[in-house]
Amino acid sequence: MLIAIEGIDGSGKTTIAKFLEEELKKLGYSVVLLKEPTDSEWGRRIRESYNSRLRPEEELELFLKDREYDVRENIVPSLKQGKIVIMDRYYFSTIAYQGALGFNPEELREMNEKIALKPDLVFILDIPPEKAILRVKKRGDKPNDFERIEYLRKVREIFLSTKNAIIVDAMKDLEEIKREILDKTVEKLKDHLKKD
Ligand code: TYD
Repeated sequence: MLIAIEGIDGSGKTTIAKFLEEELKKLGYSVVLLKEPTDSEWGRRIRESYNSRLRPEEELELFLKDREYDVRENIVPSLKQGKIVIMDRYYFSTIAYQGALGFNPEELREMNEKIALKPDLVFILDIPPEKAILRVKKRGDKPNDFERIEYLRKVREIFLSTKNAIIVDAMKDLEEIKREILDKTVEKLKDHLKKD
């Protein structure tokens, strides 16, 4: 089973992804948590460009190359080993962030679905950008060029239009968010077991 956790920076993805990993392990599942951009050469080039963003076409190409690598090297092998794979960002980030730069979100989705497996569950942690930026600053990080407010408003809008995703209000109490995500995941796992 493949699960994607998405949302803008400061929405709580990493906290939730780690929580879900731990809880599923406690239930006896074998779980792997992956993060995009990865540590591949393309992922590294993306990170080096955080404060002086590349041309949109070049940036998109790097995200796609990095994703192809992640699918081939990490996602597919882990799924084959029967693991649950949790993604801290996946191709919905490309649709939203590169879509907000002007690429057509529908075309981005098609491009990605040619190279990447469709997840069984997609959670979008939704938060107003103003609040998210405050959280990023509070944890001591300096917002980068991906974190400008007007841009993030567009990113959020595209995230919210994701079909078949579960939109979670990331302003809710953290315990409540955790419970909602764990419940929905366990429900989905039960469906999966029935199918197998
Ligand atoms: P982030 O998860 O914040 O990684 P890090 O811990 O390395 O800072 O991701 C970095 C930025 O990359 C984030 O602001 C969103 C952006 N991004 C895209 O624009 N497209 C994508 O496909 C992905 C995966 C990320």
